[in-house]
Amino acid sequence: METFSNLTVLDHPLIQHKLSILRDKNTGVKQFREIVGEIAMLMTFETTRDMPLEDIQVETPVAVTTCRQIAGKKVAIVPILRAGLGMVDGVLQIVPSAKVGHIGLYRDPDTLNPVEYYCKMPTDIDSREVIIVDPMLATGGSASAAIGFIKQRTQGTIKLMCVIAAPEGVRRLAEEHPDVHIFTAALDEKLNDHGYIVPGLGDAGDRIFGTK
Ligand code: PRP
Ligand code: URA
Repeated sequence: METFSNLTVLDHPLIQHKLSILRDKNTGVKQFREIVGEIAMLMTFETTRDMPLEDIQVETPVAVTTCRQIAGKKVAIVPILRAGLGMVDGVLQIVPSAKVGHIGLYRDPDTLNPVEYYCKMPTDIDSREVIIVDPMLATGGSASAAIGFIKQRTQGTIKLMCVIAAPEGVRRLAEEHPDVHIFTAALDEKLNDHGYIVPGLGDAGDRIFGTK
């Protein structure tokens, strides 16, 4: 299998087990939505592994001790609407102080090009590490456009967290945004003629929101 230096595949057994349930076409909306959130929460552990720490003094009931807390930059989560919304609560469960920006993009079904319809970012985004969330990285058009919008507002670190990535999308981001690291639960085989990831899980937005 092709390897990419801009990609980390999170192969933790809990993530892989949950991903199998997502892929199953018989999984219903309620369970699908819950599991997207759970995977996002589990992926956040690795996506934030490089957060810097600083020493602080804490007085326990028994003694004063040196502990460590997160230092410096805080986090902004940016879901790509709609499907990215399904991952936000999972990240917030373990990074509750994160701010949330939104980028509305949909993929034109004929051209597969992203079309922007909404963008609202935290005003202090330039002092935060940005984690873009979207379950699917297919052609990479949506993610690349989202990264472009965010780069107009910050020079800081941007990461992308997705559930399934296609090699085409990973390759495109390596060319257009080599500084952005991608975290995924799976690197799938390819895209089909309609731009869907194979084997994938189908249309993530429709399965999260029950619109098909
Ligand atoms: C899906 C998905 C990504 C995009 C990936 O969204 O959630 O945003 O497609 O495809 P790409 O890598 O080829 O750009 P979609 O456009 O279906 O919109 P939705 O989230 O509103 O369903
Ligand atoms: N968007 C999806 O929701 N699924 C795919 O397989 C590709 C793009």
